[in-house]
Amino acid sequence: MQNIDWANLTFGYHATNYNVRCYYRNGQWGELEVSSETSINIHMAATCLHYGQEAFEGLKAFRGKDGKVRVFRMDENGKRLQSSCDGIMMAKLPVEKFEEAIKKVVKLNAEFIPPYETGASLYIRPLLIGTGARVGVSPADEYLFIVFVTPVGPYFKGGFMANPYVITRKYDRSAPLGTGIYKVGGNYAASMRAHTEACHGGQYACEFYLDAKEKKFIDEAGAANFFGIKNDTYITPKSTSILPSITNKSLMQLAESLGMKVERRAIPEEELATFEEAGACGTAAVISPISRIDDPETGKSYQFGDGKPGKWSEKLYNKLRGIQYGTEPDEFGWITVIEGV
Ligand code: PLP
Ligand code: COI
Repeated sequence: MQNIDWANLTFGYHATNYNVRCYYRNGQWGELEVSSETSINIHMAATCLHYGQEAFEGLKAFRGKDGKVRVFRMDENGKRLQSSCDGIMMAKLPVEKFEEAIKKVVKLNAEFIPPYETGASLYIRPLLIGTGARVGVSPADEYLFIVFVTPVGPYFKGGFMANPYVITRKYDRSAPLGTGIYKVGGNYAASMRAHTEACHGGQYACEFYLDAKEKKFIDEAGAANFFGIKNDTYITPKSTSILPSITNKSLMQLAESLGMKVERRAIPEEELATFEEAGACGTAAVISPISRIDDPETGKSYQFGDGKPGKWSEKLYNKLRGIQYGTEPDEFGWITVIEGV
C-alpha cells in the first residue's frame, strides 16, 4: 500500500505504476501491452492532434469494507466508448478487450486503490486516439487505446455537500445534432471558456448549459448530468446533446427501486423553481447536491431545499455508494470483483 494522504485526495493526477495499451494497425487490434512509460510517441500529423479524433471514458474501482475491489458497470463504459468511436469514425475496441484492459490495469496498480474508510477511489481513464497521419480531414487508419489510473477524492468541493451552480447562456457545449452524446475531447475543449468565465473565482462548482437551439431547457453541466426531485419523482433531461451518463442511468433504476417515479423529459428552466432537491451526477461527481442555480444573465436564481442534501438525494447516494463499496447487495449485477487483488 502506498503512503498517500488518501482522505485528502482531490480529483487530480497522481502517478501510478503501470498503464495498459493496445494498438490498432492494419485493420486490427493487437494484444494488450503493459507499460510503465507515461508518455506516448506519435506522429505529428496524427488525427487526434489536428482534428480531434479522441474519445475517453471515466469509471472507478472501489476497495470495499470486505477488502474486495469492485469496478462499477465497466461493460457500459466499453459500449459507450464504442458509440463515441462510431460518432467520430474511429476503430471500435471490442468490449471484451476493454474489460480485459480495465481488469489488468486495476490489478497492476492495486497498491494505489484507496482504503475503504477514506471514501476515495481509483479513477480509471481509458482513452482512444487516432494516431495515423492525415492532413486532409479524414479518419486515421491507426489508433491507440490506453488506460491509466489515478487515485482520486471528490470532483466537486466537499463531496456529498450542496454547492451552487451557474447557468451559462453565452456559450454552447454541443449542438442538438452534434457530438454532445459522445464522450469526445472536443466537447470538453468547448466547455473550458464557459467554465472559466461562468465559475469565476470558484464561486460556483460548475456551469450548466441550456439546449443550444432554444436556450429554454436544461441540458447538463460541463462534467455531469442533472436531476431534479419533486413529489417523490426523479426528473432528468432527455436531450440529443447530453452525454448518456451511466451514473444517471443507474440512479433512475435505483430511484424506481426505492419507490420513486422516474421521468426523463425536457426540463424548462423555469421548472427549476419547483424542485425540492437537485443534483449533478456522474462518475467523478457521484451525486453532488445542488444548493442553488443562478442565471446571472436573467437575474434569476433557483434555490433547492435548505442548503443541505435532500432526503431522496441522500437515499440515492447511500444506495449507490453501498453497491459500489459492497455494503449493499449488487442486485442489478453492476459490479465486477477484481480477483487476486
Ligand atoms: N456528462 C458529462 C459531460 C460528463 O463528462 C460526465 C462524466 O463522465 C457525465 C455526464 C456523467 O457520466 P457518467 O455517469 O457515465 O460518468
Ligand atoms: C467522469 O465523471 O468520469 C468525467 O469524465 C467527468 C470529468 C472529469 C470530465
